[in-house]
Amino acid sequence: MVTPLRIGIAGLGNVGAGVVKILTANAELVAKRAGRPIVVTAVSARDRSRDRGVSLDGIAWVDDAAELPTRDDVDVVVELIGGSDGPALTLARRTLGAGKPLVTANKAMLAHHGLELAEAAEKAGLPLKYEAAVAGGIPVIKGLAEGAAANRIARVYGLMNGTCNYILSRMEAEGLGFGDVLADAQALGFAEADPSFDIDGIDTAHKLSILAALAFGARIDFAGVACHGIRNVAAADIAQAAALGFRIKLVGLAEAENGELFQRVHPALVPIDHPIATTMGSLNAVVVEGDFVGRLFFQGRGAGEGPTASAVVADLVDIARGDVRPPFVMPVADLAALPRAPAADRRGRYYLRLSVADRAGVLAELTAALRDSGVSIESLVQRGTSSDGDAMVVMVTHEAREADVLDSLARMAASPAVSGQPVMMHILDF
Ligand SMILES: NC(=O)c1ccc[n+]([C@@H]2O[C@H](COP(=O)([O-])OP(=O)(O)OC[C@H]3O[C@@H](n4cnc5c(N)ncnc54)[C@H](OP(=O)(O)O)[C@@H]3O)[C@@H](O)[C@H]2O)c1
Repeated sequence: MVTPLRIGIAGLGNVGAGVVKILTANAELVAKRAGRPIVVTAVSARDRSRDRGVSLDGIAWVDDAAELPTRDDVDVVVELIGGSDGPALTLARRTLGAGKPLVTANKAMLAHHGLELAEAAEKAGLPLKYEAAVAGGIPVIKGLAEGAAANRIARVYGLMNGTCNYILSRMEAEGLGFGDVLADAQALGFAEADPSFDIDGIDTAHKLSILAALAFGARIDFAGVACHGIRNVAAADIAQAAALGFRIKLVGLAEAENGELFQRVHPALVPIDHPIATTMGSLNAVVVEGDFVGRLFFQGRGAGEGPTASAVVADLVDIARGDVRPPFVMPVADLAALPRAPAADRRGRYYLRLSVADRAGVLAELTAALRDSGVSIESLVQRGTSSDGDAMVVMVTHEAREADVLDSLARMAASPAVSGQPVMMHILDF
């Protein structure tokens, strides 16, 4: 007689209801793969009367989610409330404290408290699993933790926010400005009413800090992620990037080099034939570079009920099979506290766009500013003249030190011939 694995779910929104749906629709298949049935025995959310599109018959309703861990009919708690602190964190701590495994999709909580929770799980010999927290349905946590376990990872990067990728894709396809597409995305339900976590890059930074810890055996350093979102990406930049053979994407990038950790979220120009440039709409993509396996490319749905719940159920199958391992692959005590690599010394090519007065000698001024900062130019084009008499100048630098490019930009911005704030974006050359 096989004993079912009994699940208590806190949070019955998109993901929570999705988990109930999958465990109902694919119950037999999941039971075969898990070696035993996985059944939902208790749920908790705020509003008991809300129709969630799933049957909750035979499932206990618990008003206070914090009571789930101590219930006799719950073996595993699935936290799908969200938020870095508050009820989600209380529940996570209580679950591990009560000696029960925890599954969560909560990247914000893990980015801020992941090490504390992982330590508690390790001490108690419990699984803490979070496949759904990074890139939704894409098995990138398993990919890194298991598939790439043999490799030293030098770099992990990708598009981890579907809202941003959707907005940038539509800006490109329809030639629209950021504000117009954002408003439409909100009306269509592709962007939150308060979209700042997504468009300011914070959500990507949460996910990146988790991936970096896994990839490099480093302690999570969310505060060390330099974060620049897509609010200031202009339609003009998207068009100019396209003319140069690039697509602008919000890239989360983490590298470990010489014992230092570099983490940044920023809009970057990606060569049009790069696999992440071909990742359009709300899709996510993650690239992992290992020393023996080479480049691994993961792509798929990074959000949404089905994909995210699919990742949660995959974690439950592992737990049903008795899989217990350190949440960040190696024990927290072995994770290195890597110092942050300074951005100033990074080398790369850069895209620059400026509005300048359309008069003789201006281009010479700009090139002099670059020369004085030790930056050489790969290409420079002047495009058209706007109604206010300004011309748009677009440049791509040769490989240069980031601090030198910033220095040249400051010199150019100080010129009376330059109007507005010059734009600088990184070019992804790997
Ligand atoms: N949506 C996605 O595509 C996606 C993708 C990856 C990861 N995630 C993560 O998954 C988690 C859940 O996301 P979601 O999109 O499903 O959120 P959601 O639709 O907003 O659902 C949140 C649920 O939590 C419940 N809740 C709020 N406060 C609670 C409390 N104190 N006690 C018990 N329940 C409470 C809400 O109850 P009511 O329904 O009664 O208001 C709601 O059912 C978040 O951590 C999110 O970051 C989501």
